[in-house]
Amino acid sequence: MTDSIRFLMCSPNHYDVDYVINPWMEGNIHKSSRDRAVEQWQKLHHILKEYSLVDLVEPQPGWPDMVFTANAGLVLGKNVVLSRFLHKERQGEEPHFKKWFEDGGYTVYELPKDLPFEGAGDALLDREGRWLWAGYGFRSELDSHPYLAKWLDIEVVSLRLIDERFYHLDTCFCPLTGGYLLYYPAAFDSYSNRLIEMRVAPEKRIALEEADAVNFACNAVNIDRTVVMNKASDALKQRLAGVGFDVIETPLTEFLKAGGAAKCLTLRVTEPVRTELHANVLVESRVIRMEGHLLDSGLISRALDLIVENGGSFQVLNFQLGEQRQSTSNAQVKVSAPSHDVMEEIMTQLIDLGAVALPQELCDTNLEPVIQDGVAPDDFYVTTIYPTEVRIQCEWVKVQNQRMDGAIAVTHTPNGPVARCKVLRDLKVGEQVVVGVEGIRTVRKTESREQRNAPSEFTFMGSGVSSERRVELVVEQIAWEMRQIRDQGGKVVVTAGPVVIHTGGSQHLARLIKEGYVQALLGGNAIAVHDIEQALMGTSLGVDMQRGVPVRGGHRHHLKVINLIRRCGSIAAAVEQGVLTQGVMYECVRNHVPFSLAGSIRDDGPLPDTQMDLIKAQAEYAKLLEGTDLILMLSSMLHSIGVGNMTPAGVKMVCVDINPSVVTKLSDRGSVESIGVVTDVGLFLSLLVQQLEKLTSPYQQAV
Ligand code: ARG
Repeated sequence: MTDSIRFLMCSPNHYDVDYVINPWMEGNIHKSSRDRAVEQWQKLHHILKEYSLVDLVEPQPGWPDMVFTANAGLVLGKNVVLSRFLHKERQGEEPHFKKWFEDGGYTVYELPKDLPFEGAGDALLDREGRWLWAGYGFRSELDSHPYLAKWLDIEVVSLRLIDERFYHLDTCFCPLTGGYLLYYPAAFDSYSNRLIEMRVAPEKRIALEEADAVNFACNAVNIDRTVVMNKASDALKQRLAGVGFDVIETPLTEFLKAGGAAKCLTLRVTEPVRTELHANVLVESRVIRMEGHLLDSGLISRALDLIVENGGSFQVLNFQLGEQRQSTSNAQVKVSAPSHDVMEEIMTQLIDLGAVALPQELCDTNLEPVIQDGVAPDDFYVTTIYPTEVRIQCEWVKVQNQRMDGAIAVTHTPNGPVARCKVLRDLKVGEQVVVGVEGIRTVRKTESREQRNAPSEFTFMGSGVSSERRVELVVEQIAWEMRQIRDQGGKVVVTAGPVVIHTGGSQHLARLIKEGYVQALLGGNAIAVHDIEQALMGTSLGVDMQRGVPVRGGHRHHLKVINLIRRCGSIAAAVEQGVLTQGVMYECVRNHVPFSLAGSIRDDGPLPDTQMDLIKAQAEYAKLLEGTDLILMLSSMLHSIGVGNMTPAGVKMVCVDINPSVVTKLSDRGSVESIGVVTDVGLFLSLLVQQLEKLTSPYQQAV
């Protein structure tokens, strides 16, 4: 027996399952036998007394869960952080435990009201005393962890629980002597699993299967090389024996009905302090502000959900509900995250939703200089498609050239500060780049209820993806939109893949160009080659477009065409020389519609017009996309994604592809401005041309 080890237990005289506060208790109300519980408890008591001293706290009538002394508090040396139970069903235990600690000469720390923390049930010392593993997600709040670090002067590693059956850390996690760890990985989120794996070497991790986990095998009491638990599979016993642990099984089935077992029934009250170690908390907190139709539009619940889904936690500090239908609401939310990385991830997503990281009085966003051309500082803020503003000299400055996946470079000019989105490769040494998340906001149009419900020309399907049945309806709307844009001198850009030609869409696209519906064409080498092959030889990749059958020797057409255009010098030259007389590319040249062909590794030829320098090609695309009102993306995932990345929110997009997943990928820009149409692109174009024919422009009507 080791005199220096003491446990606190509480006899089950008043134990029962009286209420349901965890999934194990469900269906077990008054189903446990007091006699059997007493017998099982006494056996455990007896075993522990062979290895240590056991103190007892007086059980109290009306507090049936008081047997679970692990939840009394968390002890380290002579300090104890008293539990603050989440459920009122257990809050009455607090004063009794407090008294016991005080009588024992402990210094008792009490958390602020409404900050739940359930003691050693949710906080386990590494058995080498190097740090404290602290759980959150169900019973204990992440925000309690910094208090533990401060009061107990120890490093706290926060782990998020995600399976409600394992609602306390000690139900799925048990540090053992020698740095070993018995645990059930599936009870933790992936970030927490990573933390565990970073701190515990693979040979020291004993991961349980579900079958052992649900027998509360992790809920074990470890004294030196002995591990006491309810039950373990042979495999587990062997594994533990293999690394030098002796398993003592003692049935605790009556307590399982309340969601507890060996470890829950005990609290180790002698935990030696390692004086060379000191407090360290990885938990970070920030306050954000949100404004808008927060309830109405579901914005606030989306924000709170994303905090929790990413492993953070929140506290709503203030919520001013806009009382009138039109008025907006205001919220201040404290966001906590288990680490800096998680905080950054959460904050960037919150900024996308329109949240602003306080401090409000912040005059300047954080900037760091570029010290290597084409490379941003580590912590750079990654831009999105949403209009963004940054705080400079106490003003919000709008970011120019908004696009996603860039960095924000800030320069000072005689006319004041300028903030601009830049792709990494364009960053220059000495430029200042926005880092972190403070003083950045995205401006999301918050629509009122009226605006949201008003039938607007382009919100007919939201960002949904249409089915074949609805294609005609969608085409009708798109035709109307394109007519408007043309008549108002607006700009439509088409990105197109070679499928447009294979599916017989060539003539229709050519017609749209001819009739002034297209202001720029973006694609690759292939669309142009196939289009020209069809124009010159009636085949596309050697397939007869009229009959749909391969033509003898047709596979050579492709290269012959490339060769021919190369001889002419360019597509435009081929048109001028009268070599090319119809098709999509022909109409572009004839009607002065600029095009850009971006090359790729698989290109044949290429055509003289194809830009094989992709950095230049991206720049050409970006130039042609300036001021666009609508982008028609026709069966080209590659070029369309490229275009999507360069395009700020607010530009309407129609994405047509036969493959629904492409459409979803492209049209999912979190805005109502993009529409997906799942259909054959040739069919789509022919319907579009038909619809446009049917429409009469306002000018023609007036004539
Ligand atoms: N019925 C108790 C509760 O839900 C069980 C506590 C088990 N204790 C533990 N440390 N896991 O709070």
